[in-house]
Amino acid sequence: MASDLLLSSASPLESSMSQRLAIVTGASSGIGYELAVICATEGFDLLIAADQPGIDDAAGRLRALGAQTDALRVDLATRDGVDRLWAAVDGRPVDALLANAGHGLGHAFLDQDFDDVRHVIDTNVTGTVYLAHLVGRDMRARGQGRILFTGSIAGFMPGTFQAVYNGTKAFIDSFAFALRAELDGSGVTVSCLMPGATDTEFFERADMLDTRVAQGAKDDPAMVARVGFDAMMKGEGDVVSGWKNKLQTVLASITPAERLAEQHRRMAEPGGADK
Ligand SMILES: NC(=O)c1ccc[n+]([C@@H]2O[C@H](COP(=O)([O-])OP(=O)(O)OC[C@H]3O[C@@H](n4cnc5c(N)ncnc54)[C@H](OP(=O)(O)O)[C@@H]3O)[C@@H](O)[C@H]2O)c1
Repeated sequence: MASDLLLSSASPLESSMSQRLAIVTGASSGIGYELAVICATEGFDLLIAADQPGIDDAAGRLRALGAQTDALRVDLATRDGVDRLWAAVDGRPVDALLANAGHGLGHAFLDQDFDDVRHVIDTNVTGTVYLAHLVGRDMRARGQGRILFTGSIAGFMPGTFQAVYNGTKAFIDSFAFALRAELDGSGVTVSCLMPGATDTEFFERADMLDTRVAQGAKDDPAMVARVGFDAMMKGEGDVVSGWKNKLQTVLASITPAERLAEQHRRMAEPGGADK
């Protein structure tokens, strides 16, 4: 994984200190890119990060929308990558943290490479929590800030053939609520966006293209991002995008975990799309 730091424009963070600043992780594609587009059109300066060179293309498109944009290529699964992102903030107040970077991993747990397993946990959980710790402390000291985590409705169900991923999202969904309660009255709000299946590069990256969930109906990432951004700005605790996903979370809360695990098998089993 890359850990190069590519500041792609000269000191932009200093050049527009009057503007609000948003950090968006995982902004090279999918939901994160759409979150960054909304931040750009809503007048935020942007500091965006992802692991691959695509982040610079995304930065170019965001600049074309008129947003002051800095891009970093860092592996947010590593402490060093998160430190580099925080260093790039360079003491400027962060108005919004959209901690969205994450990835899945299909197939049976025991057939997965453990380095890949660990990268899912290190990205979705450890790196996300570390970044929230750095940014959150600063926001609390200033008595102001908004944090949006991208969790998932996957956190409501045991993820047969995506076992580790669903576990990481259960963590994020839970963590976001706890942090929100701890920061009650501090001026810092914490929100959790919980999308259902969304039409992004997620399934290809997780090697899940032959699954039912990958080939089924999916939500538009721009719609999902809008729902998450609005929840963040209103300071709402959590938001599930789309009525079908809302229904799924209600059903998940009253369905035995064993049954949910069996249902998830049908969605995520390799080759399941052809059965
Ligand atoms: N798509 C869905 O069905 C769905 C449903 C619920 C929740 N989500 C969540 O939504 C978030 C965004 O995913 P997406 O669907 O938009 O997928 P996506 O298009 O694959 O975008 C994922 C983003 O995260 C970045 N990323 C992944 N690992 C990283 C790492 N270690 N360091 C830095 N950046 C990293 C990727 O950048 P690189 O390419 O540079 O690695 C990319 O910008 C994730 O947290 C995902 O779990 C997705």
